[in-house]
Amino acid sequence: MDNDCKDLQEKILKLKKERKALILAHNYQTIEIQEIADYVGDSLQLARKSAESNGYEMIIFSGVRFMAEMAAVLCPNVPVYIPDPGALCPLAAYIDAAAVRKKKEEYPDAPVVVYVNTTAETKTETDFICTSGSAVEVVESLGAETVLFGPDANLAEHVRRHTNVKIVDIDPRGRCYVHNMFDLSMLIELKKKYPDAIAIAHPECPIEVQEAADMVGSTGMMVRTVAESDAKTFIIATEMGLVHQLQKNHPDKTIIPLYEGAVCRQMKKHTLQKILDVLENLPEANLVTVPTHTAPHIREVLEHMNKVKGQGPAVAVDVGT
Ligand code: 13P
Ligand code: SF4
Repeated sequence: MDNDCKDLQEKILKLKKERKALILAHNYQTIEIQEIADYVGDSLQLARKSAESNGYEMIIFSGVRFMAEMAAVLCPNVPVYIPDPGALCPLAAYIDAAAVRKKKEEYPDAPVVVYVNTTAETKTETDFICTSGSAVEVVESLGAETVLFGPDANLAEHVRRHTNVKIVDIDPRGRCYVHNMFDLSMLIELKKKYPDAIAIAHPECPIEVQEAADMVGSTGMMVRTVAESDAKTFIIATEMGLVHQLQKNHPDKTIIPLYEGAVCRQMKKHTLQKILDVLENLPEANLVTVPTHTAPHIREVLEHMNKVKGQGPAVAVDVGT
């Protein structure tokens, strides 16, 4: 790590204490950002942490905007800032509120479950919200025969194969461009090269990749699996930020990315400098809010999600301060 980076980290850690700021970072953030965060986790873990954040004077959420919006809704008394307001997940653009309403006309009795990576307006039309770490559990908790699901069609297929529920895609084209970079031939190749490796895929991966992997789960589940398993080699099918985190935290293990080009440009918009700017200037443009009329409904559906079991607690990052 260069001196400029260390210098920025020190300034952030000092100002963070003075401002009583909580820094939450998604697993896809750069290692430099993960190191100055109070908690690093998957979207479910970060939503749960946000809900417990009363007492802080501000939250800085280093993840895509829709995750930061969850924090703003779940912790309404604490201002939530995002280091780069343009960090929008393109997956969300596949379905809007009108698309959900249209599907509901076709299936009036089926509950709607949307992935957290959706806009606030889309969330106003949903009955339930899930993350990759809670999708199967949220759908199962409904006891419904048919569920309308979106926007990620690969995650929908994952739920379809792990429940007895008929899952109807709100838009079957919905995909994450990062996880869609992976294909089966890459996994076959690496499995030949590393026959003892455990392959873990994110449920946003194409279904053939999920099927050929040894395990499928959220980024938080990957963190726990690598920490708890006796295996020494892992093939990881998700974004590179998590691959770097795993390799740093487990120098005795070999972490192999399924594809090194799997980088989420939106997650990587955040930088140490932008975090420091937020702490120094509290810019209004970086404040995260949702339209007032959407907040009560989003809070209700998020609170339901947080009560469903899902995949476990957030990982505290010890930065030695
Ligand atoms: P996780 O909730 O598994 O961290 O996933 C979030 C995400 O954006 C995956 O692309
Ligand atoms: Fe969105 Fe995919 Fe990036 Fe996750 S990795 S934030 S789903 S574009």
